[in-house]
Amino acid sequence: MSDKTAAPAHVAASKGLQNVVIGQSKLSLVNGTEGKLIYAGYKIEDLAEHATFEEVIYLLWQGKLPNRWQLTMLTKALQGEAALPAEIISLMKQLPKAAHPMSVLRTMVSALSLYDPKADVNTPAENQRKAILLTAKVPTIAAAWERIRNGLDPIPPHPDLGISANFLYMLKGTQPGPEEVAVMDAYNVLLSEHGMNASTFAARVTTSTLSDMYSAITTAIGTLKGAAHGGANEEAMKMFFEIGEADRVEEWFVDNVKTGKRRIMGMGHRVYKALDPRAAVLKTKSRHMAEATGNLRWYDLASKLDKHARADEEFIKKNLYANVDYYSAIALYTLGIPLDTFTPLFAIARIPGWTAHIMEQWADNRLIRPDVDYVGPMDLEWVDIDQRD
Ligand code: ACO
Repeated sequence: MSDKTAAPAHVAASKGLQNVVIGQSKLSLVNGTEGKLIYAGYKIEDLAEHATFEEVIYLLWQGKLPNRWQLTMLTKALQGEAALPAEIISLMKQLPKAAHPMSVLRTMVSALSLYDPKADVNTPAENQRKAILLTAKVPTIAAAWERIRNGLDPIPPHPDLGISANFLYMLKGTQPGPEEVAVMDAYNVLLSEHGMNASTFAARVTTSTLSDMYSAITTAIGTLKGAAHGGANEEAMKMFFEIGEADRVEEWFVDNVKTGKRRIMGMGHRVYKALDPRAAVLKTKSRHMAEATGNLRWYDLASKLDKHARADEEFIKKNLYANVDYYSAIALYTLGIPLDTFTPLFAIARIPGWTAHIMEQWADNRLIRPDVDYVGPMDLEWVDIDQRD
């Protein structure tokens, strides 16, 4: 007979939940040993080369690539949702100008829910509507904040542009050229989904409590913000600036990395023990862009540091390679994106993946609630407050 009072057998603790599988997903496969990434059956390299961001959004939400009519309908739906409620813009105007754009984005996504009467209706149809709304409005928030903090009025979204072109238009006030749009689109495609990363996991945990999509995306944005995750793109660029010149790479590496004082931001990954396939594509794209602008200073510095690190025996032993944030920092800088807006751009790209996971979680939900081994004291005697040390 089984003992119903006995504690269930525990799975051994794994610090950082490394190698713990939390369930199944049809969205993406991250093969860290071979450095491969697949979205719903398609190689990331093919998607970055051929697909628009909107096509990949459809793929993530519907599990297949859209035909022309389906793509047109989705694009129109996204364009129709890109404008912000006037209340959101006036709220943004009251925020401290020095606020970090990721903090603003986190706050405004939460605020958006207050202007959605069906924010807490979690049916598949309402969740799909909210996924479109958030994917469309997050780029508008990020661009509007750049204008507002500089004392300018936000530029309303262009009714005919796709997400990548529209973001650059709302940020800078002029329509971007086709090369800029292509890089922005490839960036968005490459970063739109990535298995059970920390921010996606956070979004799933929030969803598993039966909380709404705005809450889950707010959670995800707060998680992406950290320097060990999406915040690494901004930190990588700051590190390149600090090094300053390609000639200083060796000295900086010895003084900072070899002494154990610093990590190279944009290198290392929990899953990839080979080159992150997104980094490979972004390396090529950032080089082409730098060549086109005639300013190779930061690309040269980054690739020299990359080469130097890859030749280091500790980096070889620990399988440390550039991750997605390393060369994306160069690409975004060359596109003229302000440094502290790099991570909001990551969020713009990842909203489709997060929302796809949220919808997948709703389709087969169970509360995500792990356990922890208690290692504190036991059997202490109660001490009256006047008798305590
Ligand atoms: N530079 C130097 N050494 C590193 C780096 C790095 N960037 N990353 C890891 N290491 C070393 C660690 O010091 C550790 O060495 P040790 O075993 O001698 O102590 C070993 O590699 C393993 O590192 P962990 O921190 O245990 O690896 P973990 O899987 O927990 O962390 C992480 C992964 C957080 C990404 C880490 O590599 C890191 O801090 N990288 C820099 C920040 C970064 O680029 N983050 C973005 C990741 S991609 C993304 O989220 C979109």
